[in-house]
Amino acid sequence: MAFAIAIDGPAGAGKSTIAKRVAKALGFVYVDTGAMYRAITLGCMRQGFDPAREVEKTIAALPSLHVELTPQGQVLLNGEDVSKAIRTEECSRLTSPTSAIPQVRTYLVAQQRQMAASADVVMDGRDIGTNVLPGAQVKIFMVASPQTRAHRRYLEEVARGEKADESQILQDIIQRDYNDSHRPTDPLKQAEDAILLDTSDLDVDQVVAKVLEAVAPKLEVARA
Ligand code: DC
Repeated sequence: MAFAIAIDGPAGAGKSTIAKRVAKALGFVYVDTGAMYRAITLGCMRQGFDPAREVEKTIAALPSLHVELTPQGQVLLNGEDVSKAIRTEECSRLTSPTSAIPQVRTYLVAQQRQMAASADVVMDGRDIGTNVLPGAQVKIFMVASPQTRAHRRYLEEVARGEKADESQILQDIIQRDYNDSHRPTDPLKQAEDAILLDTSDLDVDQVVAKVLEAVAPKLEVARA
C-alpha cells in the first residue's frame, strides 16, 4: 500500500514549503491540492465568468477543465502551464468560494485519491486528513497566527517582485480562514488523529525536522 502524509491547515501556515521539502527528503510525490482548486477557478475566469457567482456554469465547465500536476511541480490547465497565473490575488480570492462548491470538490477529490493510490505522497490542503485520505499514515495540522501568516505571504509576494499590502493580505487571510472553516462541505478542521503543529515561532528546517520525526516510526512499520 502506498504511504501518505496529509498536511492540512489554513492559508499561509507554511504547508506547501514544508510539504515540498518533506516530499523531497523522502522521495515522495508532492500534491498541492490548493493549486488544483486554483486552476479550476482560473479556467472559469478564462471562460469569461466568475465561478464564485455562477455555480451552475462552474459545474457545467468541469469536464472541460483538465488539471494536472507535473513531477517538476508545474500546474497544467488543459496542458498549459498556469503555475504563475493561479497565484494572483484575484484568483486566490475567488478560489475560496469556488472550492466550497460540492461538485468541484467531488471532481478534484477523486483525482487526489487516485494520485495517492499510485504513489507515496505528501498531500497538502484543507480536508486531506479528514476527507480525501482519512487512512493517511501521518496527519499534520499546521497552524500559525494570522499575523505571522500575513507577514510570510507579504515577503513571498515582495520576493516575486509584486506590489503587496500587508494589512490587505491579513484581512484576506482572516476572511479566507472564516470561509474555509465554515463551509458546509469538508470544512477546514483538524482530524482527530492529526498532530497539531504551530509554526509561528519555528523556522522551515525546524518544522521539516518535526514532520520527519513524526513520519519515521510510521514509515518503519509500513516498510517492515
Ligand atoms: O492552499 P491554497 O491557498 O493554495 O488554497 C486555495 C484555496 O483552495 C483556499 O481558499 C482553500 C481551498 N482549498 C480547499 O478547499 N481544499 C483543499 N484541499 C485545498 C485548498
